[in-house]
Amino acid sequence: MSHLRATAARGLRRSGGRGALRRKGASPRGAAPAPAPAPPPSRHLFSDPAEIEALRGHLLAWYDKCKRDLPWRTLAATELDADRRAYAVWVSEIMLQQTQVATVIDYYNRWMQKWPTLQALAQASLEEVNELWAGLGYYSRGKRLQEAARKVVSELAGQMPRTAEDLQKLLPGVGRYTAGAIASISYGQATGVVDGNVIRVLCRMRCIGADSSSPAVVERLWDMANALVDRSRPGDFNQALMELGATVCVPKAPLCGECPLKQHCQAQRRVEKELAFASQKLFGKRAPVSDVEDCGLLAGLWEFPSLPLAQGLQEEKQREVLADHLQAWTGRPVAAGGLRFIGEVVHIFSHIHQTYVVYSLSLDGDVTLDPALSPSRWVTEEEFHASAVSTAMKKVLKAHEKQRGEESSPGKGSKRKRGAKLQGANSTCPGTQLSLRAFLRAPKSP
Ligand code: ADE
Repeated sequence: MSHLRATAARGLRRSGGRGALRRKGASPRGAAPAPAPAPPPSRHLFSDPAEIEALRGHLLAWYDKCKRDLPWRTLAATELDADRRAYAVWVSEIMLQQTQVATVIDYYNRWMQKWPTLQALAQASLEEVNELWAGLGYYSRGKRLQEAARKVVSELAGQMPRTAEDLQKLLPGVGRYTAGAIASISYGQATGVVDGNVIRVLCRMRCIGADSSSPAVVERLWDMANALVDRSRPGDFNQALMELGATVCVPKAPLCGECPLKQHCQAQRRVEKELAFASQKLFGKRAPVSDVEDCGLLAGLWEFPSLPLAQGLQEEKQREVLADHLQAWTGRPVAAGGLRFIGEVVHIFSHIHQTYVVYSLSLDGDVTLDPALSPSRWVTEEEFHASAVSTAMKKVLKAHEKQRGEESSPGKGSKRKRGAKLQGANSTCPGTQLSLRAFLRAPKSP
């Protein structure tokens, strides 16, 4: 299935050299004043308390049955002293950073045997620590752990901070994830955690196609993790979510048939819908055509101004509809001939091939975007990358950059043939590429 959209890659402002972004799904002629980012549609969130409750139950039941027997879990469940418990979890979490569970187990057992308490670790020498850590990699982890243990002993009277907030604030090397893990697993604080496995599970469950390395997206996922975490068994819930990502909802070939959360999973629902669609098509029945927006992979994200195009629309017509669209959006005349064809960018969401036909438009002077018309804003390069933008929009920007690079490079043709597709962020040619900063700079006055 393929979809065609026309998009103006960048409306450059002379005054600031910034680009314009519009909230996906917002109509430029819409009447609602929406200067703030619109919340994503409900299927991208967990908004039904009954569903959240059911999800917690399904996940914890699965964890109780299938969880791996791991030494730090035994300690967390049996150690009565809160400081010892927190220390035991802390050591495991530091070792598990960048290292597989199977590798960590032996190291962990040896460590806890040698230094069962913070006080014992505080008295060890760095040489001893490095010796035990040998082979685990990323040696600064052991050193930092020991330094932080010394701080707890000397400055906090040997008492571990009791909340995620204080753990992060007071312990060097303890970030948001580790603080959340220690607080939930050893103290039962109802706080979520977000690591790579959790990101994958949540993005799949809510069909989030946004770039999950973007800080704005990660922030949303933290909100989601905090809303979902089971209030009475937060540590088990967090470990279960991570375990699910590590053993079932794996990056390639996930075991969806075995997943305890399949009934809560929008990605799974999509797959089922598509299978039904394919089989109906095979047997000649008419079925509703699913759309990229309908699938919700991009809803709620920022995008360059764009509109859907009918298949097979001639270039002249494409320019006309896009110029009309941009005219309504900027509130000033836009000539179809002023649009500059950049190329086509193909982006694949699941099975859907979306083709963006990219044009750029230079604007003279300041263009104030009317917040009453659509939730739009001008952004700088930094703001663009910090915004919740899809990977597709990043490719569009790259395509524009690439063309600018080719134009400024002697011997390179400045005309891009229509139909030549710019696929993926890696399609740029290092020798000719202009930096993003150069791309965003305001064009020079004649
Ligand atoms: N990854 C890091 N810490 C974990 C834990 N406690 N359980 C499962 N996976 C993890």
